[in-house]
Amino acid sequence: MYYPEEIIEEVRNRNNIVDVVGSCVNLKKKGTNYFGLCPFHNEKTPSFSVSETKQIYYCFGCGAGGNVISFVMNYENMTFQEALKVLADRAGVKLPEIEESAEEKRKAGERARILSVLKDAASFYYKTLRTPEGKAGLEYFKKRGLSPDMMHSFGLGFAGKRNEVCSFLKEKGYSEKEINDAGLVYIDEKRGMQDRFWNRVMFPIMDVNNRVIGFGGRVMGDGEPKYLNSPETVVFDKGKNLYGLNIARKSRKGYMIACEGYMDVISLHQAGFTEAVASLGTAFTIDHARILKRYTEDLRLTYDSDGAGVKAALRAIPILREAGISAKIIHLEPYKDPDEFIKNLGSEEFKKRIENAEKSLSFEIHIMQRAYDMSDPEGRTHFQQKMAKRLAAIDNEIERNNYTEAFAAEYMIPTDVLKRAVEESRLMGDTSVEGRGAFYSRAVTDRKNKKSTAKDGVSEAQKLLLTYISEEPERIYKAVSPYISYEDFSPGILRAAAEDFFKQIEDRDIRIGAIINKFEDPEEQRQIAEVFNTTLDPELSNSEKEKALTDLVVKIKKDSLKRHSADEGDIDPIQRTIQEKKVLEKLEKMRITI
Ligand code: UTP
Ligand code: MN
Repeated sequence: MYYPEEIIEEVRNRNNIVDVVGSCVNLKKKGTNYFGLCPFHNEKTPSFSVSETKQIYYCFGCGAGGNVISFVMNYENMTFQEALKVLADRAGVKLPEIEESAEEKRKAGERARILSVLKDAASFYYKTLRTPEGKAGLEYFKKRGLSPDMMHSFGLGFAGKRNEVCSFLKEKGYSEKEINDAGLVYIDEKRGMQDRFWNRVMFPIMDVNNRVIGFGGRVMGDGEPKYLNSPETVVFDKGKNLYGLNIARKSRKGYMIACEGYMDVISLHQAGFTEAVASLGTAFTIDHARILKRYTEDLRLTYDSDGAGVKAALRAIPILREAGISAKIIHLEPYKDPDEFIKNLGSEEFKKRIENAEKSLSFEIHIMQRAYDMSDPEGRTHFQQKMAKRLAAIDNEIERNNYTEAFAAEYMIPTDVLKRAVEESRLMGDTSVEGRGAFYSRAVTDRKNKKSTAKDGVSEAQKLLLTYISEEPERIYKAVSPYISYEDFSPGILRAAAEDFFKQIEDRDIRIGAIINKFEDPEEQRQIAEVFNTTLDPELSNSEKEKALTDLVVKIKKDSLKRHSADEGDIDPIQRTIQEKKVLEKLEKMRITI
């Protein structure tokens, strides 16, 4: 589903940005650049510049910028493909037909059809909620304190009488197979096809592109099962979807919140915590963790404070750790779940709980301690031995000592005594392996104190480095790769793009068009297109380029080091930090040569 890089490049080349922008913005030449009133924000004096030599635009007022393709995308509010088509037509470039095999076509058609069934069902439920038939559902949501706004943005609905949605969908022309494939019905031996959902309030589950891929339906009041969920279908994989991520991914708070259920997510969002997501009715999977890693390295868990919630948190911690996410636990006591907490104590109090979230290792030790009677010398002994065993599982010595000291102080154990117990455990090879992963929770990005300008500077540097590399991939990548890896990029689209791009270079298989098309969100495509299609000033001398590259790498490295400086966590970050500090010191004294 992508155009070859050469075609994109040809389209870009054949459309002079000055002409394209000039047809919608009144431009005046000043020096080598053109200036005009920025079409992306309100202004009275021109701060919008277009460079003919660089073939880019940039607004000094609002920071909008990009190349000719991203200009059309932004100005006309188009997707990358749409903009490419317009520009290709304008320049008389013939875009190749995108080839798909018959099987691919069939599959794509089937998927599209199922998504369409689900979308129609969702709007049917949505409408029903607002009719007399849906009154009970609407009352239910109101009783639970949901605002009309929230009901709207989560697309909440109501499944009324049995087989209503099924008849509606058939009337719309969907076949029984399609309705069944969408997971909306089950087949009853006697009665045939039956609606899966009826007399329930409905929560559509959306993917990151806001497409409905399944539903959760809740009984009103008591009844079993409380929540009925869509089965897995061609479009719905429970282990790979997080409820609320379509909204949370845009919150950009530097961390995210994971909670248990539909209502938790919605009430958190309603209280302003739009960074909340939930894994639905399934345990947290490594796929969930990998998906979240695209957006954050800092996940705060706010699971129910009962035994099941604690267990779920303990299970999630090592999984998250494996994906490189550091987990912290938000305590809700004395309440059961975030919904209840916020209703009683309000969002300000909840914010404090988010800030005071407990590091996963400390959470683990505290949970462990609950099982022992600490007023009994024997209980204390057993707990301390078990704790020593856990601490012994930390391979890195400095880190092991730091934690040992901290817990010795907390539980008023002489430090040398606990240290000896830990070392003994190690000598015996007696380290508890179960739950070991939880010891290695990764360093936290503490972005909340970071000034946004500083952060923007860094992401600008990251974009620019990608731009430099994309100009002459093999040559520049060879020069910088000893010092920098994709992991030095901030989590999110830049890291994802760098990861793909660097891999392509290493595989000698560079297809930037493919990278752009990995991002389905037009906003993300815009940013990626902007990075890769920006042309640098060709007049930069080699030594200017080397200087610029060195500065960029140093800046990115510094930020990455700050992000990974291990205030907790595992051997990786600590050893990495030490190594990276050395790299940085070296870099600051030298210049990268290309
Ligand atoms: P909970 O039982 O904690 O539900 O299950 P909840 O979200 O607090 O719901 P309310 O507040 O009583 O309405 C947490 C999540 O587990 C899944 C759902 O995704 C639910 O939101 N679940 C629970 C099911 O899939 N089926 C069930 O029968 C129960
Ligand atoms: Mn709950």
